[in-house]
Amino acid sequence: MINKFIPEGVADINYDEYEKISAMENSVLDVFRSAGYRQILTPSFEYFDLFSDGDVSVNTEDMYKIIDTNGKIMVLRPDATIPIARMVATHYRESSGAVKLMYLTNVFRSADYRAGGRREFRQAGIECFGTDSPETDAEIITTAIDAVQKCGFRDLTTEIGNAEYFKGFMQEMKSAGMFSGPEEERELRSMMETKNIPGIRKYCEEHSIEEKYASVLMELPVMYGTITEVLDHAYRTAINDQMREAVENLRNIADRLNATADLTADMSLIGSMDYYSGMIFRIYLKESGAIVGSGGRYDRLLKKFGKNIPAAGFGLNINLLYEASLTEEDTGSVLNIALGKGRLADITIEKLKEAGIEFPDYTKKSRKLIFTDKTGRYRIIFVKAVDVGIYVEKGACDVGVIGKDTLLESASDVFEMLDLGYGKCIFAVAAPKGFQYNPRKKLRVASKYPRVAKEFFAKSGRSIEIIKINGSVELAPLVGLSDVIVDIVETGNTLKENGLEVVEPITDISARFIVNCASLKTKQAQVTELIRLLRERTEQ
Ligand code: PRP
Repeated sequence: MINKFIPEGVADINYDEYEKISAMENSVLDVFRSAGYRQILTPSFEYFDLFSDGDVSVNTEDMYKIIDTNGKIMVLRPDATIPIARMVATHYRESSGAVKLMYLTNVFRSADYRAGGRREFRQAGIECFGTDSPETDAEIITTAIDAVQKCGFRDLTTEIGNAEYFKGFMQEMKSAGMFSGPEEERELRSMMETKNIPGIRKYCEEHSIEEKYASVLMELPVMYGTITEVLDHAYRTAINDQMREAVENLRNIADRLNATADLTADMSLIGSMDYYSGMIFRIYLKESGAIVGSGGRYDRLLKKFGKNIPAAGFGLNINLLYEASLTEEDTGSVLNIALGKGRLADITIEKLKEAGIEFPDYTKKSRKLIFTDKTGRYRIIFVKAVDVGIYVEKGACDVGVIGKDTLLESASDVFEMLDLGYGKCIFAVAAPKGFQYNPRKKLRVASKYPRVAKEFFAKSGRSIEIIKINGSVELAPLVGLSDVIVDIVETGNTLKENGLEVVEPITDISARFIVNCASLKTKQAQVTELIRLLRERTEQ
């Protein structure tokens, strides 16, 4: 019988849904058209090279590749902007003045479909080439807001930042000899994007970053909130002209935006795509917390295609808009805290109690999974410890407490905002006493943490075979399943009692406070307050 199943991460759309989605798309396109944009379409697949240049990086691992009959690698469109930039550079060589284009297209990227990720989604957007004024930037943001409102969403927040602020800062650090290469720049950039404050602190300590720079690095992730306050703060913190100009640029744009728009700023918004070069923005729906659209300025992209003209644009995720139109979710004023049953639960409940947040119904023995505090403002949601990351990433919980080990392994897309200082242990490679590493033999590594193990050994170029197991890992080398293990070591008792010892430490571990990217903005006051209360009770 023919396989009647469709791949994970893609979906059939029935006529009821299609009609609603189509109506939404038409509303969005009408708004774009009224703002003077004309519709174009680029091919569904293009050469891999177009998307594989380091500077215009869509993660190459996230692309769907096809081998052409002549052996060339092609990819299904993983990004809408890059092909349009290619098209403009190729076909509009003689044009002067603004070229205003709009599109409605399917985008394909690999996603963790086991976590409900989509591998094909509809995106509608605009791209404006040839002008780089704050008026153009303001017009693009206004068009984006109008389009979302036309789909029936009134309650939204627009957040702006400027990629040049961070770039200007990095430039300053480079000139001061504070880091050596692109590898370190990438590391800092990725920690900034995830507001990984404990990671940044550790980086500064390990690399002996001067206080003048370390303090800016530590401040940047929390430079978000009301636009005027944030921009004033950012201006005071700026240490060179590029950073000051980035702030001035945002002030100019904000002045031109409709005063009624709910506008906030985040100076650590630096864009997931490397090609952003100026203003960056995102639109959140307040009811669901979903980020439905994002965009910004990418003046340096077209140079790669031999045409040096400025450009800016944005894209709306139609699938997210449609899904948000179905949920009547009221995120309300309750803050949902994901907590893993096990090691970290009791101490976290204790710390919350010290901070005045008490859960009277909670007892260790209870089989209940949800507890509300006395005030009704906080709710603990007990999940399996390995699932804390996914509950927070997907917004089912606003914040969570998770071991750094589990966070590293799950690689959840969340903000890692606080090292809680408890649940301390280390990640280590361990083996039976007297173990000798044989470089001629592939090392067999048993672990509950295959991602961490793989990354650790890849750094030193050692070839390994990973055996994923779910617990009692110490057994594996004792019964010949593996040569070594990668695991957490707290007291060291389990290793000792089983005749094993640490061969190589990997990294320190402790509990982290993580935050859903949208909740940080939509429930800002509550999240910030909880971070403050917990910070006062951590060892930092
Ligand atoms: C963890 C870890 C080690 C042990 C380390 O296992 O995997 O086995 O704790 O702690 P120690 O250094 O204090 O002895 P856990 O207790 O979570 O159980 P599991 O092996 O079933 O996952």
